[in-house]
Amino acid sequence: MYSYRKIKDDIYMIGASDRRLALFENVYPIKDGVSYNSYFVDDEKTVVLDTVDKSVSGVFFENIKHLLNGRSLDYLIVNHMEPDHCAMIADTILRYPDVKIVGNAKTFTMIENFFGKMDRDNFVTVSEGDELCTGKHTFTFVMAPMVHWPEVMVSYDKTEKILFSADAFGSFGALDGNIFADEIDYDKSKIDEARRYYTNIVGKYGAQVQAVLKKASTLEIDMICPLHGHIFRKDFGFILEKYDLWSRYEAEEKAVVIAYASIYGNTENAVSVLANMLADKGVKNIRVYDVSVTDPSFILSECFRASHLVFASSTYNGGIFPKMETLLLEIKAHALQNRKAYILDNGSWGAVAGRKMDEILSSLKGFEVDEEKISMKSSLKEEQLENLDRLAEKISFELR
Ligand code: FEO
Repeated sequence: MYSYRKIKDDIYMIGASDRRLALFENVYPIKDGVSYNSYFVDDEKTVVLDTVDKSVSGVFFENIKHLLNGRSLDYLIVNHMEPDHCAMIADTILRYPDVKIVGNAKTFTMIENFFGKMDRDNFVTVSEGDELCTGKHTFTFVMAPMVHWPEVMVSYDKTEKILFSADAFGSFGALDGNIFADEIDYDKSKIDEARRYYTNIVGKYGAQVQAVLKKASTLEIDMICPLHGHIFRKDFGFILEKYDLWSRYEAEEKAVVIAYASIYGNTENAVSVLANMLADKGVKNIRVYDVSVTDPSFILSECFRASHLVFASSTYNGGIFPKMETLLLEIKAHALQNRKAYILDNGSWGAVAGRKMDEILSSLKGFEVDEEKISMKSSLKEEQLENLDRLAEKISFELR
């Protein structure tokens, strides 16, 4: 059965959510699922903006069929060629052979990479600023390379002032009927997953996101329609400000996040002592994560949020404990910048994790790694409490 929501007089959200998928991109846990958004414009010429992942293709095609009501599909605008959105392009062409595919030059190279050679007569190649009039609506196209793939573009409906923003402004999490951000407490219940989505998927490409934000600032926008998550139709300042901070690698708040790797609990104990010292000194909202328990995608997101980061790790196989190393390499791969970092390590006969963590963290742009490292031999000792307290004092002072 078709299942969609009208978002404007003649525009519909025809995508759907997958609550069964365990790992988005086969790497990011998504316990609340994910939505694959697609949009139908019921104009003189009929338009679909992006297809969906194959997991929700059934309802997607039911929706198109119902909304077309016997007419043909005239245009499929392809903003992004990643398979979570492009998977149904070939099937759409099979069902609607006369459909014109609208994309940029890179889009069509990718289409043929995924689907093989196609009839190029049905391709409409657009460049920055080109327009497509479909009757009442006129779309203009804005290139957004590396947000999140090189071919990405966003489409702006000049008539309704809607930005179809591809992956930008998306989020993990299924849509539960309330597809608009203003229909839920987005700032409280969804922002953590929006941040985790942004930082893990697009976080590496801050400069490119800044470029798109600059272009978007020249447009009058009444609605933002991303390819995942909620649609924004008011209070744009909230999400735009977050995107600006995230893409400039500035912390959202003065706060401390502690990530630790502990084999038998001794490094964990040192972190607990530090967290208590910080709390005693008035530091609020301290967040502590065990890297063996919490997926790195969550901790990475937290490192984008907070200004001060503490990493504590056991030494393992003459190096950093593997799950801590994974986290640090994820932070490096996502190009996080401009943080204060503090290091604790542990090693029963040769603690080297601290030095190796320092090598990774010091290589990150704008990272300031505190000179004072606390190194334990198997466990924290009474005589080290003074050092730990000095570290806590330093962090609490900086957070004031
Ligand atoms: Fe949702 Fe980059 O694909």
